[in-house]
Amino acid sequence: MLTDRMAEALNAQLNAEIYSAYLYLSMAAFYESLGLPGFASWMRVQRLEELIHALKFFDYIVEAGGRVLLRPIDGPPTEWEGALGPFEAAYAHEQKVTGLINALVEVAKEEKDDATVEFLQWYVDEQVEEEESASSVVEKIKAAGGTEAELEKLDGELAMRS
Ligand code: FEO
Repeated sequence: MLTDRMAEALNAQLNAEIYSAYLYLSMAAFYESLGLPGFASWMRVQRLEELIHALKFFDYIVEAGGRVLLRPIDGPPTEWEGALGPFEAAYAHEQKVTGLINALVEVAKEEKDDATVEFLQWYVDEQVEEEESASSVVEKIKAAGGTEAELEKLDGELAMRS
């Protein structure tokens, strides 16, 4: 059984994961407006990953005897600077999410909730991948040097993400 504090913290993270999905879908829309469908496709896939993250929290709260409480989702930004802007923002966002997950682990430890500490380990590991995947694209965009031909090539590569 979750303590009230633990349930509240898990619900807050469920909200944050849905916000992440909304943020990446907004980035997909931005890339579509730039005529970069491969970049947009990468963001659409990322948005699905975030929904999976959110649903894992949903299922865990239910299984652990808590009550899922869905709250309003903040509106995401809609504009960024060029092709690089969204991925730089995505990398910064994932670093922030890593901080949120680490804080959640601390709450679980303070509540002496070993099951939730164990459940959260999946997210601790996942955040290493999440940061790496955004930062590796930042590096690729920088290496492309902003030329249209290189961006188109990278667009084709990012379209391959499934
Ligand atoms: Fe749900 Fe991108 O972390």
